[in-house]
Amino acid sequence: MALILGIETSCDDTSISVMRGADELSVVTQTHLEGVAEFGGVVPEMASRQHIAAIAPVYDAAIARAAIRATDLDAIAVTYGPGLAGSLIVGLNFARGLATGLGIPLLAVNHMEAHVYACWIGRDPAHPPELPAVCLVVSGGHTDLTVLREDGRHYLLGRTRDDAAGEAFDKVARVLALGFPGGPAIEKAASELNPADGDPYVLPRARLEGTHDFSFSGLKTAVYRACSGKLGPSEAERIFRGEPSDPLQAREPSAIRRMAAGFQAAITDVLVSKTALAAEESAARSVILAGGVAANTSLREALAARIAVPLFMPRIAHCMDNGTMIAMAGSFLLERGEYAADSPDIDPSLELATDSHLPD
Ligand code: KG4
Ligand code: ZN
Repeated sequence: MALILGIETSCDDTSISVMRGADELSVVTQTHLEGVAEFGGVVPEMASRQHIAAIAPVYDAAIARAAIRATDLDAIAVTYGPGLAGSLIVGLNFARGLATGLGIPLLAVNHMEAHVYACWIGRDPAHPPELPAVCLVVSGGHTDLTVLREDGRHYLLGRTRDDAAGEAFDKVARVLALGFPGGPAIEKAASELNPADGDPYVLPRARLEGTHDFSFSGLKTAVYRACSGKLGPSEAERIFRGEPSDPLQAREPSAIRRMAAGFQAAITDVLVSKTALAAEESAARSVILAGGVAANTSLREALAARIAVPLFMPRIAHCMDNGTMIAMAGSFLLERGEYAADSPDIDPSLELATDSHLPD
């Protein structure tokens, strides 16, 4: 079985893994949160510099933990897009140098496809998810609903028209002063809601009937409006742009829990009902939930309860960006002999699915 190194540097994590077949031998991830608290999100220039500093030590640690020698590797897989240009370049160039030095193939991986392939990690290759599968890929930058067909390609059903699901989690968490990344923080606050607090706030759901598209900006704005009732609109506006503000710290914890629970319920409801409908309409044989937001337990449970076909999801540890999913996706490219070009380039706006028409 092939021994593959996977390198992920598309956003704020430097993550490198070694895989043999579908088994993870090691994964080492360094998350660069420096600057995030100060600026309210990932700062591209800082992320790029941090990847440069981290990549060699992370690589050394991944090789050491896997207890292999670099010369044992069969291929190097690396994310070439989508993501931040300055971050992608660091990973791609490092990977290129390694592959050339070792004289082994370089595999250029689509980060969003890799999120989906994270479902194959640790799984018996004889029992992969049955295709066609309807895939909901929800991350910090994307919300895509696709059909993955037997040809291995994704066909687009719908996508967000404004904010990505993870981005909505992150922005709402910022308004509620819950920290970054917002998804885990909102999930935690929502889980701490207790009867004495009251019910979750009821927030709007954009159904966009007749399409498979999503929209989360109305939901985000509703949270923002509700919060501004307490804070005064101009103050809430400032917070929303990420400028630090102390009064938020003094907000009532029970209101924050009700808002977090209400937001999570609204976003989960829309994601689940649209995915379930898409699965029925496409006669899918399975559903795949992937991307950072797929780490959300209430989303995982609600989707499992709503669909009639098997649900495949990565283990929670493999939902957020990691090198293992890159190596996993790379193993399919290696199998098909799809090696990177001699001078591969990054593609910061690479899509998961470019075809919107399903084949007959
Ligand atoms: O896939 P990912 O690690 O990075 C991108 O490719 O964007 O996704 C990160 C996103 C963030 O927006 C984060 O808030 C969200 O995934 N996320 C979650 C949870 N864990 C991470 N959202 C909801 N619930 C979670 N438990
Ligand atoms: Zn990602």
